[in-house]
Amino acid sequence: MMSFEEARIKLEEAGQTHLLKYYEDLNQASRDQLLTQIEALDLSLLDLIKDGVKEVSKGELAPLGAITLEEIAEKKSEYEKIGLQAIKDCKVGAVLLAGGQGTRLGLDKPKGMLNVGVNKELYLFEQLVNNLMEVVKAADAWVPLFVMTSEKNNEDTKNFFQEKNFFGYNKDYVFFFVQEMAPAVSYEGKIYMEEKDKLATSPNGNGGWFSSLVKAGLMDKINDLGVEFLNVFAVDNVLQKMADPIFVGATIQAGAVCGSKVVAKADPNERVGVLCLEDGKPSIVEYYEMTDEIINSRDDQGKLLYNYGVILNYLFDIKTLMRIMDESMPTHVVEKKIPYIDEEGQLVKPDQPNGYKFETLVLDMIHMMDNCLSFEVDRQKEFAPIKNATGVDSLESARELMKLNGIEL
Ligand code: UTP
Repeated sequence: MMSFEEARIKLEEAGQTHLLKYYEDLNQASRDQLLTQIEALDLSLLDLIKDGVKEVSKGELAPLGAITLEEIAEKKSEYEKIGLQAIKDCKVGAVLLAGGQGTRLGLDKPKGMLNVGVNKELYLFEQLVNNLMEVVKAADAWVPLFVMTSEKNNEDTKNFFQEKNFFGYNKDYVFFFVQEMAPAVSYEGKIYMEEKDKLATSPNGNGGWFSSLVKAGLMDKINDLGVEFLNVFAVDNVLQKMADPIFVGATIQAGAVCGSKVVAKADPNERVGVLCLEDGKPSIVEYYEMTDEIINSRDDQGKLLYNYGVILNYLFDIKTLMRIMDESMPTHVVEKKIPYIDEEGQLVKPDQPNGYKFETLVLDMIHMMDNCLSFEVDRQKEFAPIKNATGVDSLESARELMKLNGIEL
């Protein structure tokens, strides 16, 4: 561990000595904790906000079509057969990304602990497990489920699964791992403190999921089980289908190293990331990174050329993930509400964004792939994200869609 003096020098160069403000008041254990955190601190992240926040620039864009709902319907049984066989052979694992903080929803516990039921209890985690159970039954085989948590919610998440008896899932096939953290800073670029002996940190985005999984030692498990593909998905899309045999089968049959579920845009300006080509490779481009001309461009039949939005449900070939694991990914700077202690040492929980967090994103992995099968799904059946407390993409809108799909609430 670094000494106080070493920490002071490291921080001084970066204008962050306020982090040692309470050092004198701390006991030894707290001092050690603080120094350990400072030692691990990646100060180069601060360069990203030095001269204002710049988005990562994009290359040349070109459209990428998808296999459409009609095409999938025609080949459904063929795809399903291939997919179910792969699942039976334990070649497909599911990765639940549950390390986020769900700040928009404003829940004080893991998002998966949200009760989406009305007349009965039905937790987000539970509904996702229910969805996965349908595949388990169809394939007559357990699908290994890897759950990514963060330092902030790991205990709560694990306890909840245990308390609820894994919602009927086979606990020998559930593996938890913890993602990494990054510092949170004020708009002026000062790292916040969360406690007198603790820097304010937050989960470093969902882009590091695979390296965190490897660091947690889970590759041995993956190899023992013979898993070859990982299906990654978000915790908050309650209609999500994981390890969907049809999607798995289509990706395998296409010989693709990755697949992405997509939905046709509701209108050209819908605020979703679009799967397309960037400099000839698959890529997800956010709506605000596209010009109006690109957004509105259409083919001969009048169909939008940049038509397919992603829903955070990707299938990756593990060999490829291993190969790209050490390549660097872009870091995104995101405005968030960050709890911190003020000058008097009092904890403040802001109700408006008050600074930046640093995140890498799983969607940037797509651009590291040589190809990606774009696989259309029906948004009414598979896309009900819960991001906000009210309005668009909220518990309310998700409940409506769940009812529509015959899920008893
Ligand atoms: P979001 O981008 O919606 O972020 O995550 P969030 O943290 O859940 O919510 P807000 O933005 O603070 O309101 C999409 C998915 O990625 C996971 C989330 O748990 C969710 O399943 N995620 C996000 C992580 O696993 N780790 C992270 O660091 C961030």
